[in-house]
Amino acid sequence: MEATRDRAAWLKGGSAQCNIPAEEREAPWRLVLLGAPGVGKGTQAELISERLGCCHLSTGDVFRAAKTLDECERSPALNQALDCMRKGELVSDETVLSMVKERTKCLRCGGGFLLDGFPRTVAQAEALDELLESEGLALDAVLSYEMPIEQIVERLSGRRTCSECKAVYHVVGRPSKVAGVCDHCGGELIQREDDRPESVKVRMETYERSTMPLIDYFKARGLLLPVSALGTVEEIYSRTAGALAARRAE
Ligand code: AP5
Repeated sequence: MEATRDRAAWLKGGSAQCNIPAEEREAPWRLVLLGAPGVGKGTQAELISERLGCCHLSTGDVFRAAKTLDECERSPALNQALDCMRKGELVSDETVLSMVKERTKCLRCGGGFLLDGFPRTVAQAEALDELLESEGLALDAVLSYEMPIEQIVERLSGRRTCSECKAVYHVVGRPSKVAGVCDHCGGELIQREDDRPESVKVRMETYERSTMPLIDYFKARGLLLPVSALGTVEEIYSRTAGALAARRAE
């Protein structure tokens, strides 16, 4: 079975190292993925990471990985973060920023990075600007995936995620070869707690209120690349790759 890229340094934090570090690139991509919950950011991130070599850094994956810790190993801030996630609310900026800062070495990765789910508020975007500046790094682009809300909700209701390697499937649009079993690692496929309808409603409202203002924030900095999220996974990837190639040619 094909192994997905190792992201131990990002998922575990602290002194954890990736067993298979990303390959050094001459011109690594440093990207942010923006878009409503369920628009397909994580799915595109897997392909971009595989094909362009930049490491997929998802803040949601870090919090979900922390769920597997014993109760006594979780800090009060982490328990509060997991409670927010279950309800579909945002985790506090303070908790998210301290988690990202603890993983600053991932931003220096020689393969580049692909931030998915961060930043999610203007305060987080400003903190990222400061962090990158202090490391002498800059973003190449912000990919903003766009799609009508009704179709997004359909994608979320059929999503299944591998409990081990976090690979993402859809029961209709992107099924695994064997129902309920991950193609990559053989792990069990599960439905995320926050994909229940009541949490999805809160997540969409929160996105519109707190995250949509980032579209103007990044547009004003000349970084925004809008990409339609309609169509098949490969069609969307091809639009993404085209937008990035045009950016490099500028
Ligand atoms: P997070 O994990 O970041 O989730 P999200 O933004 O809600 O995004 P999703 O992972 O739900 O969707 P996606 O766009 O990646 O879609 P996917 O590719 O899976 O955050 C979760 C929670 O953590 C937040 O609510 C918050 O509480 C907390 N959090 C995280 N970061 C935070 C931060 N910075 N600040 C504060 N709180 C934070 O696709 C969805 C489905 O569609 C899948 O089944 C997929 O197979 C399918 N699909 C994808 N593309 C296609 C296609 N082209 N055709 C058909 N099906 C498709």
